[in-house]
Amino acid sequence: MHQLIHPVEIIDKAPDHPGLILVPCFMDDNLSISWLPSKTYQGYVPEKNQIFQIFLADQDLTVVLLGMGPDDHIATVFESFRSFMINHRKMITKDLLVDLRQLPDDLAYQSVLGLTLSDYSTGTYKTGKSSSVAFPKIQILVDRFHPTLETVVQEAGQTAEVVKRICALVDAPGNIKTPAFLGQWAVDSGKQFGYQVALLDYRELKAENLLALLAVGQGSINQPLLIKMQYLHPDLDPAETHLGLVGKGVTFDTGGLSIKRATNMHYMKSDMGGAAAVMGAMELIARLKLPINVTAVIPVAENSVDANSIRPGDVIGSHSGKSIEVIDTDAEGRLILADGLSYMQQHYHPGILVDLATLTGNCVAALGYQAAGLFTNSNDLADRFTSAGEIAGERVWRLPLWDSYGDALHSDVADVKNLSGKPVAGAIAAAKFLEVFVEEAPSWAHLDIAGVAFGDTAHAKMKSATGFGVRLLLEFVKSLISTKL
Ligand code: BES
Ligand code: ZN
Ligand code: ZN
Repeated sequence: MHQLIHPVEIIDKAPDHPGLILVPCFMDDNLSISWLPSKTYQGYVPEKNQIFQIFLADQDLTVVLLGMGPDDHIATVFESFRSFMINHRKMITKDLLVDLRQLPDDLAYQSVLGLTLSDYSTGTYKTGKSSSVAFPKIQILVDRFHPTLETVVQEAGQTAEVVKRICALVDAPGNIKTPAFLGQWAVDSGKQFGYQVALLDYRELKAENLLALLAVGQGSINQPLLIKMQYLHPDLDPAETHLGLVGKGVTFDTGGLSIKRATNMHYMKSDMGGAAAVMGAMELIARLKLPINVTAVIPVAENSVDANSIRPGDVIGSHSGKSIEVIDTDAEGRLILADGLSYMQQHYHPGILVDLATLTGNCVAALGYQAAGLFTNSNDLADRFTSAGEIAGERVWRLPLWDSYGDALHSDVADVKNLSGKPVAGAIAAAKFLEVFVEEAPSWAHLDIAGVAFGDTAHAKMKSATGFGVRLLLEFVKSLISTKL
């Protein structure tokens, strides 16, 4: 599994011989850079993602100005730092001092995230000697008169570690990342960071009537399971209204008997991106000891092709008691989520219920790789997620849940069918299906992250995990903490 490689240290006094200094520069800045004597530097600001190097031979010091462009959007700052570390790795032979004294807290946070996420590698399973250059130590220079910045930098470091652990999970191949493997990850994380984790195994799933989850998993030799995670803050009343998180954990989605075409099927190892985001958010909330009560329920299964697989046309039961006609076995995510949502409500009664899932290709068709689809019955949650998305650099865009969209899920033989009869508005139809199983939560939000969980990234040539959702959920939770509903 992935190890954190960058040691990061926060300092409020520059070392005597820093060697290599990185200074972020914005287009409209009127920079005076304290490291440079004014005769060496005429105020030139490099273009976005470009660098300008100045070597001061008398001090054996290299000052690198990193262009941030005119736009100080959060994602730009994050990407500039990350690409600098990836593209100029060979230049960084000495320890690196990053001068963040001129940055406001939110941009300092993004800078540290970009710096520390840059050593993530997808080459975990390569054999032989690694040819990569050694990773430098990074020192972050902050202003001693600005103590909040230090907290921000610490938090960014923790966030980066969790995001990397989550990317490693999403990038892990389906043969390694079985349901049991995900369960063990959760158990280990709970032990290490001090929160409760319990697993429901095959026998317990039967006893608890999680029939839709069992149905999806019945074609795989890797049995399904349910992961339960709970973090209760010691200063809060455990009965206090809390947040419930549910994540789609399909460890590999072949489509089942409604089998997918081969071309891009290998991407379906990422079909547990929703589960991974929820697991990352739980770990991060616990690591940061945030004052909130959160419970997570994660249904995990492998959707395989087998003599025991569910068939198109089968009618299955569910934890809620409702019967479901399975028109398409490739619409399996909504089946396991139906049980996850129902189990969560019956056992924990959260005041706010949020689910994340790589649910539909149709959401990718609608929003591309830029934003997750947001579906919610609450304008307040819509506002919170929209601004959390902007702050985190992980955008969401709201789509409707109007009643008339639900008509397409009518079944003549069961309470509901899992596929709309029409080839339109597939992401909305999936959300409407989930809504059938959201009975008591006053506010519910569903995030379809199919387009954003796995894709083009700065650190890999092939598509790979983005870690989408961890930072978004962190900002959402912070918004709940700072202003109650
Ligand atoms: N896991 C897929 C959705 C998906 C597609 C995730 C592309 C990431 C990228 C999901 O289980 C699925 O197969 N959905 C079907 C639904 C259809 C059968 C109604 C789809 O989107 O085609
Ligand atoms: Zn599917
Ligand atoms: Zn799926």
